Amino acid sequence: MLCYQTNLGGAYCGDSLKLIDELEDNSVDLVMTSPPFALLKPMEYGNVPQNEYVEWFKQFAEKLLPKLKDTGSFVIDIGNTYNKGEPTYSLYAFRTLIMLVDDLGYKLAQPFCWYNQSKLPVPIEYVNKKKIRCKNAVDMVWWMSKTSNPKSDVTKVLNPYSKSMKKLFKNPEKFYRLDLPKEKRLTTHTNSWTNNNGGSIPSNCLIISNSESNCKYLRTCRKAEIKPHSARFPSQLAEFFIKLLTDEDDLVIDIFAGSNTTGAASEQLNRRWRSFELRREYVAASAFRFLGDDDDPKAVYKRIMKAKEGDTDIPRF
Ligand SMILES: C[S@@+](CC[C@H](N)C(=O)[O-])C[C@H]1O[C@@H](n2cnc3c(N)ncnc32)[C@H](O)[C@@H]1O
Repeated sequence: MLCYQTNLGGAYCGDSLKLIDELEDNSVDLVMTSPPFALLKPMEYGNVPQNEYVEWFKQFAEKLLPKLKDTGSFVIDIGNTYNKGEPTYSLYAFRTLIMLVDDLGYKLAQPFCWYNQSKLPVPIEYVNKKKIRCKNAVDMVWWMSKTSNPKSDVTKVLNPYSKSMKKLFKNPEKFYRLDLPKEKRLTTHTNSWTNNNGGSIPSNCLIISNSESNCKYLRTCRKAEIKPHSARFPSQLAEFFIKLLTDEDDLVIDIFAGSNTTGAASEQLNRRWRSFELRREYVAASAFRFLGDDDDPKAVYKRIMKAKEGDTDIPRF
């Protein structure tokens, strides 16, 4: 059910397994999502156990494949966890990846990891108490694609140059080892290395801290006395892949939308979007990301919570 809309998108409440069916074939440029992880600790929105995870996730991935354009991508942020009762790592995130490639025919365009410096030292038992494991601060991010050549352009996600690189651009001769004979010069001693391309190419390890405490969503949740979603990813993570893999006006989908970080990032970057989320209270609070100064968040929340299938007066922000 469509709960609210904006100029570029719409937030739907319901089971993605049904909502995906309503998408047109070959219409989606990017699915940017973070499913519930197979964590041992139960989450308030429910999580699937490790031994059922791959089959559970497969149902969604199978339905999405025909909806993607040939140039489309499916980016999955999937957290790591331990096996029950012992300090060994679960393979569920890797088994999910292998299922996507071997069973469904997705391509692994590139594996990424998202390093979250602000992760807490969990599991406390192994990290803090026994001190036998390091802090777990990395999520796997599988960039999957429908074909071997998904649309992508790294020039849209360049990092600012370091101080030393900027120095080099000012005076490249100083850094050339022109004193070395030609055959001994490294490839980095060539002219192209000193071309200023507007920024440096990022690596596939994204360092993004998830410690936002004063964004519009959180401020408005506090104002409306609504508990925020507990497992949001940072908007920079969504923004990175939206910029890398899509152009303005392209269609971005999140099938496990939670607080709709992906929808809000897409709107800001002028992409069309649709978000699917099972729980109405998360969809209602996610509207806070789009409110104008005059909107009353509590009233908006109540209105979305009370809405019924078939209502035609859909809130628009
Ligand atoms: C890890 S959270 C996503 C958080 C989101 N990335 C954000 O930044 O807020 C996963 C979400 O998937 C939702 N979910 C689980 N099963 C679903 C399904 N079958 N259809 C739609 N949403 C589902 C959960 O309710 C939960 O909010």
